[in-house]
Amino acid sequence: MTNETMLQDSLCDSTVFKHRMHAQWDESAAGWDRHGSKIREWLRVPTDAMLKMAGISLGQIILDVAAGAGDQTLDIADRVGADGAVVATDISEGILTCALGNAVNAGHANVRIHRADAEDLKLKAATFDAAVCRLGLMFLPNPLVGLKEIHRVLKPGGRFCGMVFAGPEVNPCLRILMSTAMRHAGLPPRDPFQPGGLVSLGKPGLMDDLMHQAGFQSVATTRMEVPFRLPTTADYMTFIRDSAGPILQILALLDDAAREAAWRDIAKQLDVYQTTGGWIGPNTLLLTAGQK
Ligand SMILES: C[S@@+](CC[C@H](N)C(=O)[O-])C[C@H]1O[C@@H](n2cnc3c(N)ncnc32)[C@H](O)[C@@H]1O
Repeated sequence: MTNETMLQDSLCDSTVFKHRMHAQWDESAAGWDRHGSKIREWLRVPTDAMLKMAGISLGQIILDVAAGAGDQTLDIADRVGADGAVVATDISEGILTCALGNAVNAGHANVRIHRADAEDLKLKAATFDAAVCRLGLMFLPNPLVGLKEIHRVLKPGGRFCGMVFAGPEVNPCLRILMSTAMRHAGLPPRDPFQPGGLVSLGKPGLMDDLMHQAGFQSVATTRMEVPFRLPTTADYMTFIRDSAGPILQILALLDDAAREAAWRDIAKQLDVYQTTGGWIGPNTLLLTAGQK
């Protein structure tokens, strides 16, 4: 089977796609968790905005979809307090184990984990006061199904806010990573808006349309520029090599020497963002909120 057939198969068949996604995030769970403090610093401002747009407050029961290692889960746990609770869900049990460990270490007894595909949450209808999903929706093969699931489990009047990457034109680092990995793996360029891709929900107006179709009202999107700041290009490369599941999955198709050549090529291109004040990678996010 060629690299192209393998990748196309996994993109076309949503069960295979999710199986790979699950395995990929189980594998990169420790890396994503290890870089938790960098992710926290990078996403601090948009995360605060997301939690505000979801209307999270003391005593509420909150759903955190595709929670990963639970960085935003800890913020939610703080905001809802001991009388509230957060249910952190993710397709990867490996990464949820990290989330639970982080919650325990931070002294939060109000965090629960629940392994579930966001397109089939396996939770009772009308359970949650609010829900969030930080950088997860774009990985769903059918994000509308995921949004309908979130809508279903919200109580009437409950709010949801989802954070996704904006389009490739304002996320050049993601574009470089994906296109260079694909080229080195001998794969044809992929439509950046193909479902399941990093910037697949970045098309202007798409998130609003999907939210309306899922049944949400008072839908609004806020665009935020959130550059990723690190001391050097090498630091960003370490972060990506440890934690960027989708890129690692493509480069896994190569032998060691070819993979190292791809990483060198990526690093050379990303070096244009090295400044005297550190490495500053442009990054733009979309925060879309709505109410049931
Ligand atoms: C980029 S990480 C974001 C994690 C966390 N929300 C954060 O911002 O730190 C994406 C997460 O989406 C999860 N994911 C991917 N596909 C999923 C699906 N179909 N259902 C639930 N979670 C999924 C992955 O396992 C991973 O933990």
